Amino acid sequence: MNTQELRSFIRDLPKAELHLHIEGTLEADMIFALAERNKVRLPYADIESLNRAYQFTDLQSFLDLYYAGAAVLQTEQDFHDMTWAYLQRAAADGVVHAEIMFDPQTHTSRGVAIETVFAGLASAMRQGHKELGISSSLIFSFLRHLSEAEAFATLEQALPLRGQYDDLWLSVGLDSSENGNPPEKFQKVFAHCKELGFRRVAHAGEEGPASYVRDALDLLQAERIDHGVRSEEDPILMQRLRQEQIPLTVCPLSNLKLCVVPDLKQHNLKRLLEQGLCVTVNSDDPAYFGGYILDNYVATAQALGLSKEQLVQLAANSMAARF
Ligand code: ADE
Ligand code: ZN
Repeated sequence: MNTQELRSFIRDLPKAELHLHIEGTLEADMIFALAERNKVRLPYADIESLNRAYQFTDLQSFLDLYYAGAAVLQTEQDFHDMTWAYLQRAAADGVVHAEIMFDPQTHTSRGVAIETVFAGLASAMRQGHKELGISSSLIFSFLRHLSEAEAFATLEQALPLRGQYDDLWLSVGLDSSENGNPPEKFQKVFAHCKELGFRRVAHAGEEGPASYVRDALDLLQAERIDHGVRSEEDPILMQRLRQEQIPLTVCPLSNLKLCVVPDLKQHNLKRLLEQGLCVTVNSDDPAYFGGYILDNYVATAQALGLSKEQLVQLAANSMAARF
């Protein structure tokens, strides 16, 4: 298949996107437009110089820029516009369902009300269901570089809104700087979220060791692992992931841009799939990593020589791993 045929083959497979940070869909031109609308000063002269700054050496070098970019989001309309833009892109890529992560603490710490964040995200998601036929839900993600007490406080702020958004807010997650912030730090808040009936995911084994994947399963009762590519370093963990069919939400272009792998040809996605793990393909922060979900599928298929059957399997895995 040539690239065009490959793109349309993959586009036509019904897919779920399960690892997507909505703040990571803010394209440089939208950052500039929102900065102007909200009178926020940016330390970049223009869109091109911001785009040129997207040269990352590791996760932290990306996160610093990503949190700075998110500061342009201030009003309900901003959160709506960002989410609507993503849903249109996703629908065009053949995504039929998206489980969308957002970082409430990134916004509440700047004085944006949690009500504003929920209202903007939710209106776009409900519109996406009606007008694009794409279903979606929210993953309320705790920032792991902050304390567990801060996670509890943010959760308490948001819980009164749960009734209003119980069609959308199904899950909690854990993201941000992995190294030095192990799963055990958030054991109590995840246990509380489980009691409250939330589904659970956690980033683990992106930059951090395989033991963080195991601890995310055992200590946080995570039902899916975001990234998890370093699981391969622990054969016992690999056996468990296969036996229990715990989904891994892998993001190949993210792994490339954040130097988790030196080259897409060296990505272990195909090996993980061939060992029978429930691997899925996702875009993570597409505005920063050079591609949405279809770009991730196509680049990975070409770099690793995935067969049509393997592509069908990846898409089917994503649909099976939905909450
Ligand atoms: N937040 C946004 N993208 C992330 C990633 N790839 N890892 C951890 N936290 C994130
Ligand atoms: Zn992520």
